[in-house]
Amino acid sequence: MHTVILAGGGGTRLWPLSREQYPKQFIKLFDDSSLFQKTLERALIFSAPDEIYVVTNEKHKFMVLEQISEKEIEIPEENVLLEPLAKNTLPAIYFAVKTIAERNGDTKITVLPSDHLIIANEEYRKAFQRAEKLAESKLVTFGIKPTRPHTGYGYIKPGKKIDGGYEVDAFVEKPDFEKAKEYIEKGYLWNSGMFLFKSSIFIEECKKYQPELVKAFEINSLSEVYTKVPEVSIDYGIMEKTDKAAVVHFEASWSDVGSFDALYEVFEKDSNGNVAKGECILLDSSDNFILGERLIATVGIDNAIVVDTRDAILVCSRKDAQKVKNIVEILRSRG
Ligand code: GDD
Ligand code: MG
Repeated sequence: MHTVILAGGGGTRLWPLSREQYPKQFIKLFDDSSLFQKTLERALIFSAPDEIYVVTNEKHKFMVLEQISEKEIEIPEENVLLEPLAKNTLPAIYFAVKTIAERNGDTKITVLPSDHLIIANEEYRKAFQRAEKLAESKLVTFGIKPTRPHTGYGYIKPGKKIDGGYEVDAFVEKPDFEKAKEYIEKGYLWNSGMFLFKSSIFIEECKKYQPELVKAFEINSLSEVYTKVPEVSIDYGIMEKTDKAAVVHFEASWSDVGSFDALYEVFEKDSNGNVAKGECILLDSSDNFILGERLIATVGIDNAIVVDTRDAILVCSRKDAQKVKNIVEILRSRG
């Protein structure tokens, strides 16, 4: 089976750790590995190294190649596909699927985002085995039992039971808070962001629902393709529209570490509920997320995020962790 790893996103809610030149999937936060490297290791469970493809921005080419070679995985360089512009996930996935199908004929493909922390246990393997069977005729998604009305995810309504999973009655990407609450009450699942399908079925659905995108990819020059291709995610562009979606239950441990409050959740805490990465002295301080290379000291500080980097410091209330992306917008508008 082939695997496509998406590694072209930005990750603005992890500023100042995550930068345009150094997005979050490449930061080594976990046992000296990045989320991208952890995703590579998961890809190896079902794919040989030459069946693994990475789609990233051309400015991250060397970082990607270096992180692959650090893990001593023999992915051919021609499997690292470089995008001149970020046009969201559908163009990235289509680019990879088209390339794989041209080189290998019709084949099953798993799509993995590189911004999740997943423990690849037995449950993980089982979910993919169920999905692989369903992928004979379906675009398969992996559904996670929601824990709160998160508005940054896709929501999947499981329908009729089929072998190994369910048909999808509805797929709704990033609903508002009220809708998200309603969906949870009605038994919808979160979309994990991973997909498994046959290249032929995926391309058929793109022809049906995104003919402009398919047409753009017929142009020879990649920079022209990317100026013409619409900016759209697979979720809005295909999954909300197709009637070929299926969902399998995904019961392995999964977290999207998109913001500092999510990072806080996944790391081990000291007896005062602090996550302290680096040298810290925390007096009368609890439930903080503290990270930096210099010594950081706090007195009487609770529920805060402090991130110190060489040229910028973030001090933020944990409950406002989602708003960190607004800082990046302000910085961008300053040029
Ligand atoms: N190559 C490439 N090019 N990769 C990209 C691009 C792009 O233009 N844009 C995003 N990516 C990568 C990101 O790095 C990430 O690994 C993955 O594609 C998913 O993109 P996100 O931007 O992180 O998507 P999301 O988190 O808002 O939403 C998706 O994931 C959720 C679960 O975390 C959706 O699939 C939701 O439905 C889902 O619930
Ligand atoms: Mg994400």
